[in-house]
Amino acid sequence: MQTINIGLLGLGTVGSGVAQVLRDNGAEIARRLGREVRISAVCDSRAERAAQWCPQATLVANPMELVQRDDVDIVVELFGGTGVAKDVVLKAIESGKHIVTANKKLLAEYGNEIFALAGKHNVMVQFEASVAGGIPVIKALREGLAANKIQSIAGIINGTSNFILTEMREKGSTFKDVLAEAQKLGYAEADPTFDIEGHDAGHKITIMSALAFGTPVNFGACYLEGISQLDSRDIKYAEELGYRIKLLGITRKTEKGIELRVHPTLIPESYLLANVNGVMNAVRVNADMVGETLYYGAGAGSLPTASAVVADLVDICRLISADRENRVPYLAFQPSDVQQANF
Ligand code: HSE
Repeated sequence: MQTINIGLLGLGTVGSGVAQVLRDNGAEIARRLGREVRISAVCDSRAERAAQWCPQATLVANPMELVQRDDVDIVVELFGGTGVAKDVVLKAIESGKHIVTANKKLLAEYGNEIFALAGKHNVMVQFEASVAGGIPVIKALREGLAANKIQSIAGIINGTSNFILTEMREKGSTFKDVLAEAQKLGYAEADPTFDIEGHDAGHKITIMSALAFGTPVNFGACYLEGISQLDSRDIKYAEELGYRIKLLGITRKTEKGIELRVHPTLIPESYLLANVNGVMNAVRVNADMVGETLYYGAGAGSLPTASAVVADLVDICRLISADRENRVPYLAFQPSDVQQANF
């Protein structure tokens, strides 16, 4: 059986989840694919974690070296952020490696550059795990709704904020305590300001907006307002009026241009979105042919996010043998694919 070799950058919450998914479900995945997916090289400063999660892989100290290795077919970038992560992703693409990433900040801020380079080198960049954790919402936008013109997207797409709002409403917990709990559970970003000030949701809605409307990514155009200014009285008064407060990412195509925003929103308690609780995410899409569709599931956490990463690996493995020159572009923001947009 042919082996597809993975170079894994980062063994944090999601990286260890990827190792676990491949360890526990690898045989089943190999049966489906007719190929074995194996982590051949890993880069993480914590040697003991590498020994624990990827005992068979070569531990490589320098990520730039890892992405150029002959025994790496696909690079899985789980460093996060836009420093080293950006440099290694660009280097990996130049080296002809396919990319799987969960890095929403990287794509929302540098997606145009990354996808242009990927187009030039004819490699795939997959990013299901960058939005809404384990929910296959990127695949829904790109494939499931391919027959439609998308009109709007509204989603609860930051699990940490939703967890905080839920615990404050249901248990009367304090903002600070619930945030600490979200960090302990591995939901929050390395810098949790990104969660509670709306940046993370902004990155995600920016990515979905670009996919839905075929525009370049434009995070700078996204209005951001998080949940840090809310207190338990806001939540209580909303409830007395029959509403729940949810942090929504919203994008809509209007006659004036594309709206892109994140802010706390009052939602009538009878609506499905109002009843999405804890770390769960939900994304509602309105499209012209199918009407309204709703996607629901775990929006953060080790195994749900790893599930999306491994699904992308499976996707690339399926496409890898397709004729490179004639492959229908499978990228999101290829220059040939994008329209200019007013934001
Ligand atoms: N910090 C993110 C969240 C992780 O809470 O949703 C998943 O992207």
